[in-house]
Formats: sequence, C-alpha cells, structure tokens
Amino acid sequence: MSLIFDHIAELHSARSWGAVLDAGTGINSLRWLRTLPASELTAVTGAELMVRRMRDALGPSPAHERILTGNWADPAILAGEKFDTVVADYLIGAMDGFAPYFQEEMFTRLRALTAGRLYLVGLEPYVVDRPSTPAGDIVFRIGHLRDAVLLLSGQKPYREFPLAWVEVQLERAGFAVVATRRFPIRYRARFVNAQLDMCVHRLHLVPDDLRDALAAHVETLRAEALAMEAKLGGLRHGFDYVVAAEPRTIS
Ligand SMILES: C[S@@+](CC[C@H](N)C(=O)[O-])C[C@H]1O[C@@H](n2cnc3c(N)ncnc32)[C@H](O)[C@@H]1O
Repeated sequence: MSLIFDHIAELHSARSWGAVLDAGTGINSLRWLRTLPASELTAVTGAELMVRRMRDALGPSPAHERILTGNWADPAILAGEKFDTVVADYLIGAMDGFAPYFQEEMFTRLRALTAGRLYLVGLEPYVVDRPSTPAGDIVFRIGHLRDAVLLLSGQKPYREFPLAWVEVQLERAGFAVVATRRFPIRYRARFVNAQLDMCVHRLHLVPDDLRDALAAHVETLRAEALAMEAKLGGLRHGFDYVVAAEPRTIS
C-alpha cells in the first residue's frame, strides 16, 4: 500500500493490533488501518471536511470503527481511554492549523493514550536551510513560496518538526524509542503542481499590489520545477521518518 505502512506492519510483526487509534486520520492512514485485524478502530480528525472526504473516498465505517471530530487541545477528547496501537501519521506537522503551540503537549496526550505501541510518521522540515543540490533548492523555494502565500493570505503555514526533536519529546513524555527509519523522498510533478496550485487558490487573498507579481512568480517556478522533475526523473530531497515507541517501564 505504501512503503511507510508496509514498514510499520513489518515492525509490528506478530503482535496483536488490538484497539487501534488513528490520532491524525486521513484517507491514506484509515484506508490502510481498515485492512488490519484490529478489534476496534478509532479515528480522530480536527476537520469535518476530512470526515466527508474520507466517507466519499472510503465509504461508510465498518462496525468496529468510529470517526471522531475534535481538537486534541480539548482534554475531554478520549479522556481516560487507552489503545493497544496508536498511529500518529503526519499529525504533529499538521497541528499548527488546529492547536498552535500544543505540539509538545501532544506527546503527553499520546503517552496517556498508548498502552502498547506508538507509530509516529513525520516529514523532516525542508524549509529550514538552503539545500546544496538543484533539486533540493527548487523544493525549498516551492516550500518557501507556499508558506509566504499562506502568510500573506492570512493563513497558517505547515510546521513540520525534525526527527531529532520528535525523539526528545517522546523520551520526555515517557516513551522509549524502539525503532527509527528514514524514507528518502523523490518529489514528483504532482507535488509541484499541488503546492503551487495551493498558492494560486489563495492569490485573491493576498494584498492587491503583490498579486500579479506573485502569480507570475508561481508560474515561472512551476515551469522550472516541472522541467527539472522531468529531466531528473523526480526531485530527490529530504525524508519522511517513522518512529516506533513504547511506554517506558519504571524499573
Ligand atoms: C496531514 S493530516 C494526516 C494525514 C493522514 N493520516 C492521511 O492518511 O492522509 C493531519 C490530520 O491530523 C488532524 N489534526 C491536526 N491537528 C489536530 C488537533 N489539534 N486535533 C485533532 N486533529 C488534529 C487533522 O485534522 C488531520 O485529520
């Protein structure tokens, strides 16, 4: 289904999945989790729109599944409940849009929710330092332009967190990291178009005197990035990561 979900299944091996929590649900993670022999499946999202998209793409919930809409910053969400397996698939990087400044606290919530294993999937930030390769540089410029347009249109950009930071937060929250793996990324034309279309769809919200210049810049960057993507067979830059962690036992 995906290299990352295959890897998690391999890490899980013969363990029972039991009651599973998809703490940052979406079409990809829920589609995969529905294929597993979980006794119960709970999927949480911050957006009603996500629930509609999942229902359209995946159909109605099977009997053992519940989909909840809420905000992890609300202490009442799943208070007191525990799950054998918790999946946090690109949750932390999406949190700024729902509960800014709550990312660290989220690790404490995840610890309280996890009885067995946590699998955390994230994207190493690629908008921090200017990369040294042409492919990396163009991915960096696309990310910066997207974030600039989001800010100029009054919206929040994504905020991904590095693997090293995640490992520290897991340890602080009372987890022991049991496995870590990086998955190098090759960005394709679909990524280029999705990120730059996101800019185009927000141009009506940016200040009037910047709109035409930004619109032209988006298309220049798109042409440059698509030509490079075709020439190089993809834009290799950065990595996704998977961390498996378990509640630390006090000895
Ligand atoms: C990038 S999406 C996750 C991708 C998803 N796993 C998939 O299969 O494509 C992030 C998810 O986390 C949810 N989320 C982010 N912050 C949240 C918060 N504070 N409370 C609840 N859900 C949140 C979003 O609503 C969304 O469902």
